[in-house]
Parts: sequence; C-alpha cells; structure tokens
Amino acid sequence: MAYEDEGSTVYSQPVTDWVNDWDWLDDQWGTDAVDIWNAVREVTPMAMTERYGRAFMPVTMDAVSAIAKDTVNFSSRFVSVAQPDAKRRPAPPITSDPPDHKDHRRLLLPSFAPRQIEPMENELREYARGLIEQLDGRDTADAAAEYSQHIPVHGIAQMIGVPDDDADIFRDWIYRNFQLAPRDNRIREQVTADMRAYFGELLDARAADPKDDLATLITEAEIDGEPVDRELKLGYLLLLILAGIDTTWSAIGSGLWHLGSNPDDLSRLKGKPFDDPIWLTMSEEVLRFYAPVTMGREVIGDTEISGCPVRKGEQVLVTFPAANHDPEAFERSDEFLIDREVNRHVAFGLGIHRCLGSNLARLEMNIAFQEWCAAFPDYRLDPAKETTWTNGQIRGPREIPVILR
Ligand code: HEM
Repeated sequence: MAYEDEGSTVYSQPVTDWVNDWDWLDDQWGTDAVDIWNAVREVTPMAMTERYGRAFMPVTMDAVSAIAKDTVNFSSRFVSVAQPDAKRRPAPPITSDPPDHKDHRRLLLPSFAPRQIEPMENELREYARGLIEQLDGRDTADAAAEYSQHIPVHGIAQMIGVPDDDADIFRDWIYRNFQLAPRDNRIREQVTADMRAYFGELLDARAADPKDDLATLITEAEIDGEPVDRELKLGYLLLLILAGIDTTWSAIGSGLWHLGSNPDDLSRLKGKPFDDPIWLTMSEEVLRFYAPVTMGREVIGDTEISGCPVRKGEQVLVTFPAANHDPEAFERSDEFLIDREVNRHVAFGLGIHRCLGSNLARLEMNIAFQEWCAAFPDYRLDPAKETTWTNGQIRGPREIPVILR
C-alpha cells in the first residue's frame, strides 16, 4: 500500500509478510531483524518485495556470497535499495564496478592500512576516556548518545580533516540518507545537495591551502597521471563520512547493548587485561551477531540465485547480517559466543568491495569496549527505559539507557 505525496511514493504500511513483501525501513527491522531473517530462511533463500520496484533479499550465506562475488550480473551503481527512478551519483569505490573500481580503491587503501591506523590508538583511547570522564558522578547514562556515537565521528573526522564540531551535521545527513531517502527521492536530492555543498567548500579550501589529511589527498588525486574528476572527489568524501560513522557507531552500540543485557558475558571481561584475546573474539562476535550493514545492488544481467530467477533492472539487498546467522555457515549460529574461535563472518562484506575501513572500525570497537567495561564493570540496561534501534541500511541502537553502577 502506498500514498502519493506530491509526486513521491511513500510506503507506510507495516510488513505482515516478510517473504513476499519485505521492507528494510519497517519498524520491526530495527528490533527483530535476526528473527525475521531466520524465519524467512525456513521458507526461502530469497525473499522479495515490490515496494521499491521488484527487489530481492537473500538470507543464506550461499546466496549473499554468490551475489557479492558476481560483478557481471550485479552492479554496485545502486548501493541502496530505493525507488527505481532515484538519481544515483557516484561514490567510488563503493558504487564502482570493474574495471574502474580497482583504481579508486587503490587510491584510498593506503590511508586505511594498519600502519596508518594503529598509531591512532593512543589518541582515540584518550578521547574515549574523556567521554567517560564526562559521566563522572552519574548513576545513569545513554551509552549510545553519550558514548558510542562520538568515537567513530572523532576517528574519521580527524582522518578527513573536518571538525568534530560538525558531528550534528554529519548525523543529520546520515539520518536523512539512510532512514528517509530510500522511500523519497526528494529527500535523497536535498541531502545530497547539502553534502556536496559542504565537501565542495572543503575541496576548494584544500586546493588553496593543502594539509596532511584525506581531504587534501582527495583534492590532489590523480589516476594514471590525470586529475580525478571533481564529481568523483565529492563522491569519495561523501562515502568516507557516511561509511565511517554510522557503521561503527552501530557496532559499538550493539556490543554495549549486548553486554548490558547479558551479565554473564560482561563478567567474562571483568578485570581482563587489554591484550587478552577475549576482547578480540568478543568484537568479532559482535560483528557477526549484530552486523550493522546491508548493501544494495542493481541487477544488470538475467541470472539465477539459489534457484530464484532475477532479471535485469531489478534490485537486490545483499543482506550480509542475515548470512551471519545462517546455521549452514556457523555452528550454534543463534548463540552469541564471546570466545568463538572460528568466526568467518561477512559483516565487512566479501568480494571486491570488502570494507576498506575494517582496521579503523576494529580499533575503534576494541577501544570503546575496553574503556567502557573498565570504567563500568557492572553496568546494565535500565529496565525502566527502552533501547531504540534504527532500521534500514545501517542497523543499530540509537538510545541505550543504562545504569552505570
Ligand atoms: C563496524 C563497522 C563497519 C562495517 C560493519 C562496515 C561494513 C562494510 C561493508 C559490508 C562493505 C561492503 C559494501 C559492498 O559490498 O557493497 C563496506 C565497504 C566499505 N567500507 Fe565499511 N564498514 C564499517 C566501517 C567502515 C569505516 C570506519 C570506514 C571508513 C571510512 C568504512 C569505509 C568503507 C568503504 C570506503 C567501503 C567501500 C569499499 C569498496 O567498495 O571497495 N567502513 N563496509
């Protein structure tokens, strides 16, 4: 069911049939996504919907992996399942297909290599401690609004070379982009225009006064000795800010939500030195169990996935988080095992677009969990208040009321 609103089609009916009418912007997606994917998997490897034109949602590791690895029949031009006539702009490398993809990725990759990211640890740790100090003397807090949302902004803002003080602007873009734009082309255009204006000014500023940051690297970018087109430079910057914030904010928030509601897991971390392997296995299990990111693809060639025909012009949601719960791929897939030894999750995707920021994300997650748990070893969710979760492309808690001690 849809209603027309000045030319844009807005769907508002809650989903009652996730196999034939899925919608990633439905409110149930935020809180119940894992149960939804598990229930769909009992019926079919590929759910479908007509809400965004025809679009498919794979829920098994086989189907997710087949799509992510097939760049012949699936294009990354559509990385968000949205209205089929939505205007798509390049944000390389995530929206690029072969052969262009390689050059764009190669340009950004060195900045996210371990030797660049590891030295950020001390400063990021100081920053996390500073957030915790601001809770001094408090008995309750919002672990999302007062903690998890800030750390990734700080990390990527420093790297790009934009001020932390603009964090509210970035979060507003994220909200409009991921929560509103898939249903409404006008919002997509407005938020894109806002981001392009901001980053256009940044490119001009760095051209006039270069600095040691990613904004300068992008301003001066060349491929094969030729300057990169300004459209593409805007796309790099837009992608880095969107991909660098909401994703890790959601992963940190999900981990804190989990530990706050599972005291047995929290107690396994109590007093553990920061070099104990349990911190790493915990972060990886958070990534598996609460993987925040799903990505769209445009079908560009008729093909078949797990027996389901898909046709040119349709869309697909590559549901990496659902694959992480496939019992065919993981032993005891429905259990959060804090010390899971073998954990080949696909939270960071797979194939040529595998996450470029995974070193940064992992560092921020480890620091966030370690510093929080060291400061509040007995914290728990506040039973009198509710956690709220986002739906859509990046899924994670946005308010986590907790009792600190
Ligand atoms: C827990 C946090 C994160 C998760 C779960 C995550 C997840 C993902 C996934 C699933 C993809 C694959 C997209 C596809 O197949 O279309 C991806 C790509 C990407 N991610 Fe992340 N990401 C996270 C953090 C970050 C951070 C901090 C950055 C830093 C800016 C970042 C930058 C990127 C970029 C640039 C790509 C595109 C790579 C390419 O197309 O070659 N991500 N991410």
